Amino acid sequence: MLRTLVAVACLIGISADARPALGQSTRKTVILEVLVPEDARVLIENNDTQSTGAIRRFESPPLSPGKYTYTVTAIIAGPNGAEAVTRVVDVRPGDFEEIDFRPRRPGERVPDVLFEGTPDAVVDELLYLARLSPGDVLWDLGCGDGRIPVAAAYKYGIKARGFDIDPKCLEEARSIVRANSLGHLVDIEDRDIFTLDLSQGPTVVTLYLLPSLNVRLLPQLRKLPAGARVISVGHRMGDIPPDRQVTVDAEEGDYTLYLWRVETLRRHSGAEETTPTAQVAPAVDATRSWVPPTPRCGKRFRRR
Ligand SMILES: C[S@@+](CC[C@H](N)C(=O)[O-])C[C@H]1O[C@@H](n2cnc3c(N)ncnc32)[C@H](O)[C@@H]1O
Repeated sequence: MLRTLVAVACLIGISADARPALGQSTRKTVILEVLVPEDARVLIENNDTQSTGAIRRFESPPLSPGKYTYTVTAIIAGPNGAEAVTRVVDVRPGDFEEIDFRPRRPGERVPDVLFEGTPDAVVDELLYLARLSPGDVLWDLGCGDGRIPVAAAYKYGIKARGFDIDPKCLEEARSIVRANSLGHLVDIEDRDIFTLDLSQGPTVVTLYLLPSLNVRLLPQLRKLPAGARVISVGHRMGDIPPDRQVTVDAEEGDYTLYLWRVETLRRHSGAEETTPTAQVAPAVDATRSWVPPTPRCGKRFRRR
């Protein structure tokens, strides 16, 4: 692991809305993972981080509960000179968010988040939390190596489908299905999750994505049939309070699982998905910027 030691000027502004409510003083950091061409410059709140590598990781100082945004800019060399691309990310303390600035070839499909598998102990808790019964059908959106649909079929005997667009993940998932002789229960499909019609088929949807991707999926998730449940590993769904939440103390660390019934997602529509009015630019600690090994499906470091 390569660490880059960089001094970063502090840019702190705290609005009234960002102060902790009474009794809510837990402060948590935000982790931003920024994917760029190796030679790009990355600026956060106009502050040059001087970080290096293809995957840059930044951690904020511990933040009080509230709504925050970061403005992240990548300066990328192109055929017509350097180009600056800026994104504003909407974060809450405790979030992990990924920002992908890698240039695309026309028509190129790239996963919206890098692969990381849910640990086995967390998969077991997730399936227990879903209260699966024989009629349930589980869909894992962004299934990686297929461990969630495979475990659901293997342990509960239910039908399950996994969707991914990473060829390596699809290959691994299909070989795990074959190795467990579960082809009659599990389908692994090469489909972009943002094109799926969720109104027919799944009664349980599982996600291990990013807060920003969960919010992007909300219009599709709200079309799930009555009684359906959505479970997200590690990430919130806008500011919609979950119906149930458990933290699993796994060997790899603590993982929080959030469950929403589709009725809850339908009831909370609108405000949760918009950019917050309270905008704060807290300091980012670029001393924790590092370059992990090239990610491969099934072999990835822990995010937090
Ligand atoms: C963090 S991994 C989670 C894997 C698995 N669900 C688990 O919990 O072990 C996210 C997966 O989503 C896939 N993915 C990202 N964007 C996608 C998209 N637009 N359509 C389909 N799959 C996508 C990635 O390739 C990756 O395998």
